[in-house]
Amino acid sequence: MENQAQPIQRKKRALSCIQPTGIPTLGNYLGALRNWVQMQDEFDCAFAVADLHAITVRQEPAKLRQQITEMFALLLAIGLDPERSLLFVQSHVPAHSQLAWLLSCNTQFGELSRMTQFKDKSARHADNINLGLFAYPSLMAADILLYQPDYVPVGADQKQHCELTRTIAERFNGLYGNTFVVPEPYIMKAGARVRSLQNPQKKMSKSDENVNSFISLKDDKDTILRKFRRAVTDSEAQVRYAEGKDGVNNLMEIYSAVTDKSMDAIEAEFAGKGYGDFKNAVGEAVAAELAPIQDRLQQLLQDKAQLEQWMRLGAEKAACVAARTLFKAQKKMGYVMLK
Ligand code: TRP
Repeated sequence: MENQAQPIQRKKRALSCIQPTGIPTLGNYLGALRNWVQMQDEFDCAFAVADLHAITVRQEPAKLRQQITEMFALLLAIGLDPERSLLFVQSHVPAHSQLAWLLSCNTQFGELSRMTQFKDKSARHADNINLGLFAYPSLMAADILLYQPDYVPVGADQKQHCELTRTIAERFNGLYGNTFVVPEPYIMKAGARVRSLQNPQKKMSKSDENVNSFISLKDDKDTILRKFRRAVTDSEAQVRYAEGKDGVNNLMEIYSAVTDKSMDAIEAEFAGKGYGDFKNAVGEAVAAELAPIQDRLQQLLQDKAQLEQWMRLGAEKAACVAARTLFKAQKKMGYVMLK
């Protein structure tokens, strides 16, 4: 595909990455990953497993290796298409580390000190406040800028890093001449802001110590049904979307996201029925949505050789794109380039 003529009006480009730290939740899926799949129609997409970012907190090598493989397989299983999109593992493309250094020297200590994620993570991992954790945003800027995307689909928690990426890109372009597209964050459409099943004031999180508070994408049907049955609701026993009914609202949003039904339709469907029926229906719908993904994930993980082929293909395609941008940046900064 490399040397095919470019259409005159090229599609806009989008890039995002996900860290291979544990199995994503239903919240990650409905809030982000599922949108990535849809974005493939509208944009030229690149998606990566951010395994270099993962080691900013300590990782157990055998576990990390397994999680990288599983996350890559999961991206395929949800329907990201390695023939249409760039799909790769960050550490397989050395240009990420190389550009990160160049960008680090164009990122200010003060800017990195202001990152709320750095402050949070250094508070949570006080025994390991390493240089990589501090420099995390310049590696993320490299991930992004190498592929010259127009948009970076991220959750609200990554917006500050995207803003810093823009600052770094603008600074670099100003100092050395136009090199990078200055990308915009693409904050994903509302609708699926999935909350904890046990405490709907909080976001659903895979690091929650109460496993009943989240649905993992690997939970089997029985587990899903059980977790929804235990979900926190209220004492009104009426399925309606209203202020003060955070638990029910959350379940309605999940149901709506997986069935495409409107809130009105959902209220009508469960009029006169109790929460038991409703929770069961939500559980069934979620289990049905996840079943084909889980089947594909199983199949993909059974054929490691094939999976490695997809990784290699993605790494090679990504390396071509990334090398061009890296070359340009190095040359502009004054490096002696060997042809
Ligand atoms: N920092 C992101 C997160 O934790 C992951 C990430 C790494 C990323 N590189 C990126 C996201 C580039 C978007 C673009 O969620």
